Amino acid sequence: MDDSSQTKPKPGTLTITDNRTGKKYELPIEHDTIRATDLRQIKVNADDFGMMTYDPAFMNTAACHSKITFIDGDKGILRYRGYPIEQLAEKCSYLEVAYLLIHGELPTKAQLDDWGNHITTHTFVHENIKKLMDAFHYDAHPMGMFVSTLAALSTFYPSAKKIADPEERTLTLYRLIGKAPTLAAFAYRHSVGMPYVHPDNELSYAGNFLSMMYKIAEPKYKPHPVLERALDVLFILHADHEQNCSANAMRGVGSSHVDPYSAAAAAAAALYGPLHGGANEAVLRMLDEIDNKDKIPAFIKEVKDGKGKLMGFGHRIYKNYDPRANIIKRLADQVFEVTGRNPKLDIALELERIALQDDYFIKRKLYPNVDFYSGLIYQAMKFPVDMFPVLFAIGRMSGWLAQWQEMLLDPEQKIARPRQVFLGYDQREASMLSQRS
Ligand code: CMC
Repeated sequence: MDDSSQTKPKPGTLTITDNRTGKKYELPIEHDTIRATDLRQIKVNADDFGMMTYDPAFMNTAACHSKITFIDGDKGILRYRGYPIEQLAEKCSYLEVAYLLIHGELPTKAQLDDWGNHITTHTFVHENIKKLMDAFHYDAHPMGMFVSTLAALSTFYPSAKKIADPEERTLTLYRLIGKAPTLAAFAYRHSVGMPYVHPDNELSYAGNFLSMMYKIAEPKYKPHPVLERALDVLFILHADHEQNCSANAMRGVGSSHVDPYSAAAAAAAALYGPLHGGANEAVLRMLDEIDNKDKIPAFIKEVKDGKGKLMGFGHRIYKNYDPRANIIKRLADQVFEVTGRNPKLDIALELERIALQDDYFIKRKLYPNVDFYSGLIYQAMKFPVDMFPVLFAIGRMSGWLAQWQEMLLDPEQKIARPRQVFLGYDQREASMLSQRS
């Protein structure tokens, strides 16, 4: 609204004065935000495109309204649908949490039975997926195999393209949550040259995954209950994290109305990066490189000199201890009682102690994140380091699907298409190749 009069500003609005023109604008404030498109009325003249905001890496831009996950980064709070992560990790199974993220409420016993049955009956993959797996090189990274076979699922379920059909969407939820562990375990078995193990639907979600990973000749694989529960809790901790890079990929790619398997593959590809879900793998490689506690001060100095990062530290949102890292630290004690202590824990603890007392890290509010300790547990449970991001992806699948569904059902959402500030050449003449020196 162009309002250059002297009247008192309306409450609940933001007044902007454009000093180029002297005009004043009152923009409505809703949920502490203004609508970026309201800025477009701010123009120097009628031909002007209108004001935009410039926000590389979306540092201060909300791209959606969401009711799924709440984070208070300063206080170190994480809640799914209002429930603190600490309570969910203590009282629920991963499948209950997946249901919560997607449906908005924790399931009753009957709802959980139904949900679990449906997911369990969708754990098998088409036999041709094995042939796809077989096509990968023996040392292919399992995350590459996971991303590719996830995308390939779209060709097995072409009707999933009907994203406006609630029944199709529900089927996709079952299939993607059900099949993610199968694809992950198959990728691992391929990399170690072992035969694929079919899902055992009598086991829990995490137990079945462990069976598909590690079963050899025994007629029935019996997961260790402490390790089975630890893995389930790790899936819970990784299940969602509001508008992170991979959720943003799921929403952004899904906003083109592509099928959900392709969107999930894009999300998994985003997760693969070392700044996101690949960080757990990078942490273990870093601890290997540091090798012993005496080398920590030299390593920290290199980080402070800008020669690398302390992987597993820092977060775009958390400027306090990541609450998931706290839970994982406690979980590690339970796991190590069964597996024996991971010797790298001492290096990690000492790194944390030194970093948290160092001005560089204090000033920048860099604390351990979810990836700092998770890899130590995974390694103690005999997962190879390159499987770590895949484990993250299994847990995160339910979050991606919750974000995808929320985006589709939000009448305000459209195809995601940011603007740019163009700083390139103005129009110029193209010459023939022979005339260019
Ligand atoms: N080690 C050393 N310095 C760091 C680190 C780190 N891990 N993280 C941030 N900084 C510095 C950074 O160099 C910058 O310093 P300066 O102000 O002097 O330029 C300052 O802290 C602010 O960092 P930023 O890069 O502007 O912060 P960001 O919000 O863009 O990045 C991050 C967040 C997670 C990508 C980054 O902290 C990082 O690269 N951490 C290591 C990788 C990692 O552990 N990632 C997992 C994140 S949690 C799981 C997930 O969500 O996937």
